[in-house]
Amino acid sequence: MTIASLSIQNLSKSFGAAKVLEEISFEVADGEFCVLLGPSGCGKTTLLRLVAGLEEAAGGTISLDGQRIDDLPPQKRDVAFVFQSYALYPHMSVFENMAFSLRLRRLPEREIRQRVGEAARLLEIDGQLERKPQELSGGQRQRVAVGRAIVRQPKIFLFDEPLSNLDASLRGTMRVELARLHRKLRATILYITHDQAEAMTLGEKIVVLHEGRIQQLGSSSAIYHRPANPFVARFVGSPQMNLIEGRLDEKRAVFRSGGLEIDLSGALSEGWEGYAGEALTVGIRPEELLFGGRDDAWARAEVEIIEDLGSDRFVHLRCADMELLARVPAHATVNRGEIIHLTGKPDRLHLFYQGKRLR
Ligand SMILES: Nc1ncnc2c1ncn2[C@@H]1O[C@H](COP(=O)(O)OP(=O)(O)OP(=O)(O)O)[C@@H](O)[C@H]1O
Ligand SMILES: [Mg+2]
Repeated sequence: MTIASLSIQNLSKSFGAAKVLEEISFEVADGEFCVLLGPSGCGKTTLLRLVAGLEEAAGGTISLDGQRIDDLPPQKRDVAFVFQSYALYPHMSVFENMAFSLRLRRLPEREIRQRVGEAARLLEIDGQLERKPQELSGGQRQRVAVGRAIVRQPKIFLFDEPLSNLDASLRGTMRVELARLHRKLRATILYITHDQAEAMTLGEKIVVLHEGRIQQLGSSSAIYHRPANPFVARFVGSPQMNLIEGRLDEKRAVFRSGGLEIDLSGALSEGWEGYAGEALTVGIRPEELLFGGRDDAWARAEVEIIEDLGSDRFVHLRCADMELLARVPAHATVNRGEIIHLTGKPDRLHLFYQGKRLR
């Protein structure tokens, strides 16, 4: 299979007066699994449609292996699109669904059989080739849709939320199958989703999109551990990160918000003075929020609700007019109505200033 790298440079798109994508630039390397992650309506499908040639850009370039494709018609672009609604032909067998694009290209029958057979074995649907789509489960239909893309041997695969129609447990299974498939095919994949867990598990590279702009681009670990701004901080990770708006003291590296007080001298070691008196946002993940002793406490909080998930517990806390969430092990002793002392490790804090990460 021929694989290619994809390069998108300064890509923009508007629908009428509405700017949907603004100056989008990123690359997907040969054989890389790149996930475009963003909330509903942020322009993900539009971006894939631009790459496939189904929409025309307002500006910018799209290249495969250094060759511009943005001026080519869709059928000349050598990309395969797997849609969210599998869009299978109901009256055709699985075999004919998968063979369809090859027949359009007038490939010899022998090669069609060989390609469909190989893809079907890879996807473990070789026993279902004579069935019609309505005789298949959701997961099998999904595999046929993927198989239809594989037989084309494209330079790059575009996946538009392919798992969103499946129930939660099947989604988890298919997620692992897709990762396995990618390992076997070594194909270049641009995959979009609004599900951060899917992005974290599948993406070798993640591009976070919001309001038509790239918010952050990096590995799942970089995006989780060093989110570039408060949007990424909240969007990635479940349950969501606590974000606390407050202000730094004028004279000391102490952050205050309501009844909460955090010593940031460790976190802001190189020059807190530049932020003296300034508004900051402090982020802390629920698993990093600890129940401590009175002396090192950041705040006192009341336990309002405890959600017991079996493996761990989500503790909803009220701290003055703020709601915070802590995630504690199942065996932790904590009771509703209890007043606890909150603390945490300074090096686990995320600090944001004017919408950007400070540390
Ligand atoms: N053909 C169109 N004409 C006008 N506006 C459009 C068109 N297609 C999309 N839009 C608008 O562009 C924005 C981005 O749409 P897009 O389908 O790319 O979002 P998305 O990120 O794929 O969302 P979802 O996760 O819900 O699928 C939306 O505000 C949408 O209403
Ligand atoms: Mg979409």
